[in-house]
This record gives sequence, C-alpha cells and structure tokens, in this order.
Amino acid sequence: MNQAASPVSRRGFLEAGIGVLGTATALAMATPSAGAEAAALPAWKPISDRKIRLGVVGGGFGSAFQWHRHPNCQVVAISDLQPARRDHLMRVFQCQKAYDSLEELVQDDSIEAVAVFTDAPSHGRHCALVMNRGKHCISAVPAAFTLDDCQLLKETKEKTGLKYMMAETSYYHQDVIRARYLVAAGCKLVYSEGQYYHDGVTALGSWKNWRRALPPMFYPTHSTAYYVGVTGKRLVRVSCLGLPGKGEEWEKNQYQNPFVNESAAFHTSEGTMFRCNVFWKCDAGGETGLFVWESTPRRNVPDHVPLPPTLEPGGHGGSHGPLVNEFLTAILENREPAVNVYEALAMTAPGIVAHQSALKGGELWKVPSYDKA
Ligand SMILES: NC(=O)c1ccc[n+]([C@@H]2O[C@H](COP(=O)([O-])OP(=O)(O)OC[C@H]3O[C@@H](n4cnc5c(N)ncnc54)[C@H](O)[C@@H]3O)[C@@H](O)[C@H]2O)c1
Repeated sequence: MNQAASPVSRRGFLEAGIGVLGTATALAMATPSAGAEAAALPAWKPISDRKIRLGVVGGGFGSAFQWHRHPNCQVVAISDLQPARRDHLMRVFQCQKAYDSLEELVQDDSIEAVAVFTDAPSHGRHCALVMNRGKHCISAVPAAFTLDDCQLLKETKEKTGLKYMMAETSYYHQDVIRARYLVAAGCKLVYSEGQYYHDGVTALGSWKNWRRALPPMFYPTHSTAYYVGVTGKRLVRVSCLGLPGKGEEWEKNQYQNPFVNESAAFHTSEGTMFRCNVFWKCDAGGETGLFVWESTPRRNVPDHVPLPPTLEPGGHGGSHGPLVNEFLTAILENREPAVNVYEALAMTAPGIVAHQSALKGGELWKVPSYDKA
C-alpha cells in the first residue's frame, strides 16, 4: 500500500500555508487561551514594489479575482475564445490588450504569469502550455480531469521549475485556516469530512457543456482541501459509492457517468479516515467540512490572511483575496506557493480514482502518488 508522505516537508507545507508567519511564530500564537476568538496577525507589509505582469484567461469565473487591486500586479493581457467574455475581462481589469485564445496569449514574451480559468477538462493541458512557454501559472480547480494530465502537470512543473498554484477556495476558508494552525501547533486530527453540495450545477451553461453529467468526484478539491489542505498529508486508498441520476442526462453523456452524487471513504497516509461527498442533487449548498480532533483544542489561533488594504477578501468565504496574494507573493519571494503542484494533485487525483471505485460498486482502490520522487 502507498503510505507515502508529502514530498513537501510538513514544516515546509505549513509554513507556506500559514503565509507571512514562520512556524515558530505560529506555534507561539497557538498557546492555550480561555476564549475561542481568532488571534490577530500583523498587518500586510509590502515586500517589493515590483508589479508582476499577468495574463488572465477565461472570462467567466476568471473575472472574479481582483488581480488589478493588488499593488504587485498588473493585468497586461486577457483572453477568451468568446468575444463578449473578452470584452468583459477588458472592462473588469481595465486592460487594453486582448488575445483570441490562450494559445496566442502565451506567445507574448512580456507576460510572466498566467491565470488559467478555462473549462475544467482543459486545465492540465492549458497549464502545461503556459509553463512550457516559460510563465508561472495559477489554475482554477480542479488541477486536471485525468491521471495522465496529473502526470503531465507534475512533469512540466518539475522540468520548467516555474511556480504552479491551484486556486482552491476552501483552502482559505476560516475553519480550514484555523485547523491548519492547530495542526502546526501539534493538535491531532483523528477524522475529518469535506463536502461540496451544489444542486443543479450540471445544468449551468459551460464551455462545450463540460458540466453536463460531470462525475461529481472529478470535482473533489473543495472537499479534499478539508484534509490535504489542513495536514499536508495524503489520501491513499478509497472506496466510493454513487447515486444514479434520473433522466436522459445520466443515460447518455460524454463521461459515460451514471452518478449525480458520490460519497467516498478514504484512508489517509496517517492511518486516519476522511469522508468526502460531492453532490449535484440535494437540498443543500456550499463547501463545508468537519474536524474531529484527538482532544478538543482550546487554542487561540488566526483564521485569516493579512491582505493589502486595496484587496478585498472577496468571494467563496473570503478566499479570493488570499489566493491572489499567495500566488503573487510566492513569485516575489521565489518560493513554492501554498497549494503547489504536489498539494494540488493530492487534492485532485483522489477524486479521479474515487469515481473509478464508484463505477465498480465501491471497490477499494489505491490512489497513485504524484509526489516528488
Ligand atoms: N469555487 C471555485 O473554485 C470555482 C467556482 C466556479 C468555477 N470554478 C472553475 O473555474 C473555471 C471556469 O469556470 P466557468 O464557470 O467560467 O467555466 P466556463 O465553461 O463558463 O468558462 C470557461 C471559459 O474558458 C474559455 N476558454 C476555453 N478554452 C480557451 C482557450 N483555449 N483560450 C481562451 N479561452 C478559452 C471559454 O471560452 C469560456 O469562456 C472552471 O474550471 C471551474 O471549474 C471554480
């Protein structure tokens, strides 16, 4: 069985995730206290006046991140295949240069980093293209839709040495930030749960209809962030069950996927358990989780990330601002971002395998490792 631990050391992972504080400071702040209030952090301080020259691709969700409000970023070009979405991106980012496609935008040598917010099935290939053109890359979730694309991302990142980050919004939810600090302070999780409930999402419009009959576990990262994004450890084996959908969509589709809801049980590399749900039919909504600790931590730890005064925390539980800040700061500091390629693939690949398990009635499957050899 694969019991591989993270290639990023636990200390390194937590330091990157915790952002501006080193582990020593984080531990000092996580001392027991009577109240449950969040600990305060020092205000954001500029580390450079350099502006990173960014290209933004994908005029749907890609327009929801306030890159142009960060003092270290300038959106110098945008792209979408659809003219109306190009216009929208130009307006949002007050940007004059538009390319007809990502493939054209990456030829622009003046761009040093690209935000890839294209359709989810294309993320792996698009991000590999960006890095192969010598540019840092931040990708919308999930990192990839196939294990081949997971391997492609790992190899391209390792070959080019550029920064890769996945914009997992749950990673900067307050409860996840707090849990990460608690783990850094030595608290032990015995069990956790993550769930993404989005009733009717498969009927939403999307490029080439990629959301239609989408296998729920192909979109696992909002949930898996509730274990991988807290501990930096791995999900190593899975058994998953699926609820068949009703109607034409689920009888015939591009994924040959019968399931509208999927629920997976994972073994972790620590020997604990993690339960992961992704449902498209439910009277519930949101990206949430639950942590069960070995003993209840009564510690006063931070639950947020300091941001430049011009940048709002923004959507998805205040996560957009921290994601923008982390990617840009990692480039400026020449370090790996918190949700680097190894963490991104450790949140993504378990879902791809879980769906295979569901198709086989819940067989126990091993999750391959994409960690550094
Ligand atoms: N909470 C979250 O993290 C969250 C929320 C919403 C969406 N997302 C992710 O964000 C991504 C975008 O979501 P969306 O709703 O905008 O999807 P969408 O399908 O509506 O939009 C994708 C866009 O990519 C463009 N595109 C595709 N290939 C291109 C190319 N080669 N060059 C230029 N443009 C290209 C399309 O024209 C389209 O406008 C998806 O991958 C989705 O999974 C994440």
